Amino acid sequence: MILGVPKESFPGERRVALVPAVIPNLVKAGYEVVVESGAGAAAGYPDTEYVAKGGKILAARAEVFRLSDVVLQVLCYGSNDVSGAADLPLLRCGQVLVGFLRPLGAVKTVQEIASTGVSAFSIELMPRTTRAQSMDALSSMATICGYKAVILAANRLPRLFPMLTTAAGTITPARVFIIGAGVVGLQAIATARRLGAVASAYDMRPAAKEQVHSLGGRFVELPVEAQDAQDSRGYARAQDESFYERQRELLGRVVAESDVVITAAVIPGKQAPVLVTRDMVEKMAPGSVIVDVAAERGGNCELTRPNQMVVEHDVTIIGYINLASTVPYHASQMYARNVAAFLIYLTKSGKIEINTADEITRETLVTAGGEVVNARVREFFSLPAKVA
Ligand SMILES: NC(=O)c1ccc[n+]([C@@H]2O[C@H](COP(=O)([O-])OP(=O)(O)OC[C@H]3O[C@@H](n4cnc5c(N)ncnc54)[C@H](O)[C@@H]3O)[C@@H](O)[C@H]2O)c1
Repeated sequence: MILGVPKESFPGERRVALVPAVIPNLVKAGYEVVVESGAGAAAGYPDTEYVAKGGKILAARAEVFRLSDVVLQVLCYGSNDVSGAADLPLLRCGQVLVGFLRPLGAVKTVQEIASTGVSAFSIELMPRTTRAQSMDALSSMATICGYKAVILAANRLPRLFPMLTTAAGTITPARVFIIGAGVVGLQAIATARRLGAVASAYDMRPAAKEQVHSLGGRFVELPVEAQDAQDSRGYARAQDESFYERQRELLGRVVAESDVVITAAVIPGKQAPVLVTRDMVEKMAPGSVIVDVAAERGGNCELTRPNQMVVEHDVTIIGYINLASTVPYHASQMYARNVAAFLIYLTKSGKIEINTADEITRETLVTAGGEVVNARVREFFSLPAKVA
C-alpha cells in the first residue's frame, strides 16, 4: 500500500502531515511512503531526512495523489477553504483520505468530497476515549495553540509575567485569565504559570474546575448555571442568548482586573459565543492583551478581527488563526504520530479495513462510496439518516 504526503497548500501553512521519524513504523505495517518534494521543508524536515528513513520523494503533486492508496494531509479540502478545492480532481474512487476536513463546516464541501468516491476520515471526529487518545490530533494541535497564545500575549504585554524581587523593588506577577478551560485553555494555564503569572480560568462545564486546580490555576466561579453543560463526548453544549448575556455581565469585573485574557470558548460546529464585549475591553487597563483563540470561529471578543492584531482603547486584541502552524516542527511531529497511530490501527494484514462496527472507524469516517456516511455529520446538516 502506498501512503502519499502532498505538500500542504493552505497559504502560510507550515506543517506537514508526516515526519520522517514515523516512516519506519508505517513501513513495518506494510506501507510504502511517497512525499511531495519540499513537503516538510517549512517545518524543518528536508527531503533528505524522508529518504534516509525509507520514504520516496516525488516532484509532482499530481503524481503523489495518483500513486497513493492513502493520502495524508493536515488541512484537506474543507479545512483548507482557500486552495483545497484544487485537490478534488486528484482524488479518486476507493482511495483513502485522512486529515482535518472540517466536517461540520459546510454541507456542500462534504458532499463534494463524497462525490470523488474517496473514503475520507476526519481527524476532528476522533472519539474522546482512552483508546483513541494516541490518535487525537485535535488535542495535540489545541495544546500547541494554548502554549502559543500565552507566548504571543507575553511578547506583547508591556509588563513582565513573573513576580521578581530585585534591588529595584518588587515586580508583581501578571494576571492571566482564561475563558474556556478545554485543551487550549488548560495548556494556556500551564504555560502562563511556567512563566510565573497568576493564572485563573472559567468554563461553563463544572468538570473543568478540577482540571484547572490540578494545574495550579484558580477557578473563577460565576453564579450562572448552564443547562446540560456537557454532551456525552465531553464537549460543551450551545446555550441560549440569555445565558451568554448573563455570562458577559458576570465576566466584566474579572476581565477588567486581568492583564491578559485568553479566550478559547467554543462549541463544535457553531459560531463562538461573544463573551467579551467592546464595553468590557474599554474597562481593561491600557496595555492589556487579549488573545482570541476562537477567532477562526468568529471570536469570543466582539472586537476581534480574524487573522489580525488590532489595538482598541489601548488594548491589543490578537485574533491570529492557525496558531499550530506557527510551531510547525512540533505540531507536525505530534500530528504525524497521531495519524500514524490511526493508520496503523486501521490497517489489518497490510490493508486498510473499514469496519464500521468499530467506534473509532465509524465516528471518523465521513464519506465512502460516493456518499456522506457519518451519522453525526448527516444529523448536523439535517440529511436523512442512513439505514444501516
Ligand atoms: N481523550 C480524552 O478523554 C479527551 C481528549 C480531548 C479533550 N478531552 C476533554 O474534553 C473537554 C473539551 O475539550 P476541548 O478543548 O476539545 O473543547 P472545545 O475546544 O470544544 O471547547 C473549549 C472549551 O470552551 C468551553 N466553553 C464553550 N462555551 C463556553 C462558554 N459560553 N463559557 C465558558 N466556556 C465555554 C468548553 O466547555 C470547553 O472546555 C475537556 O474537558 C477536555 O479535557 C478529553
